[in-house]
Amino acid sequence: MLKVVVCVSGSGTNLQAVIDGIQNGTIQNTQIVRVISNNKGAYALQRAKEHGIPSLCVSPKDYTNRAEFNLALLQAVEETSPDLIVLAGFLVVVPEEMIQRYRNRIINIHPSLIPSFCGTGYYGLRVHEAALERGVKLTGATVHFVDEGTDTGPILLQKAVEVKVGDTPQILQKRVMEEAEWKLLPQAIDEIARGQIQIGRRDG
Ligand code: GAR
Repeated sequence: MLKVVVCVSGSGTNLQAVIDGIQNGTIQNTQIVRVISNNKGAYALQRAKEHGIPSLCVSPKDYTNRAEFNLALLQAVEETSPDLIVLAGFLVVVPEEMIQRYRNRIINIHPSLIPSFCGTGYYGLRVHEAALERGVKLTGATVHFVDEGTDTGPILLQKAVEVKVGDTPQILQKRVMEEAEWKLLPQAIDEIARGQIQIGRRDG
């Protein structure tokens, strides 16, 4: 059984896709052991509650400095001894110690075809605004391993999505979620659970 911690910040539709995938068998042999949010008001926490999944809020606001927050976040993860950490719309810079300790065992979903529209400042709706500003005809989503850079880790899966005339950032975001994100993230977790994607061993 693959033990997964899912980290969230917002509405949690990607978390929902993972929950649904486990329930309907798209994702095999996997259990979400904890949902962690940095934001108390995240609707994702409600989704976890509704499905009886243990959840926890670790907010930077509750700590005097970043180092203390990072430590609390790492502890919240460590307590569950996960095999995999899934960043599903988690808008926090992952502490370096966590990256080192969970090398090749942290995956992130990003709403563009990396290396386009990624890196510092590109998150959520901003990614789609930038894609529309540039006038690309295809965008999409990427699941990648997390390394020390921002969106620079090894790519696992990508799916292209058409940009259509008249798209607003919101419309494009919805299409990318429906056609790419909500399929790719469950697929990546299932492939990892089946051992089809080699994930690294714990470093420390
Ligand atoms: C998703 O579109 C996800 O790809 C994006 O935030 C949204 C979260 O939505 N993540 C990033 O931009 C990370 N750089 P959700 O809370 O409904 O899953």
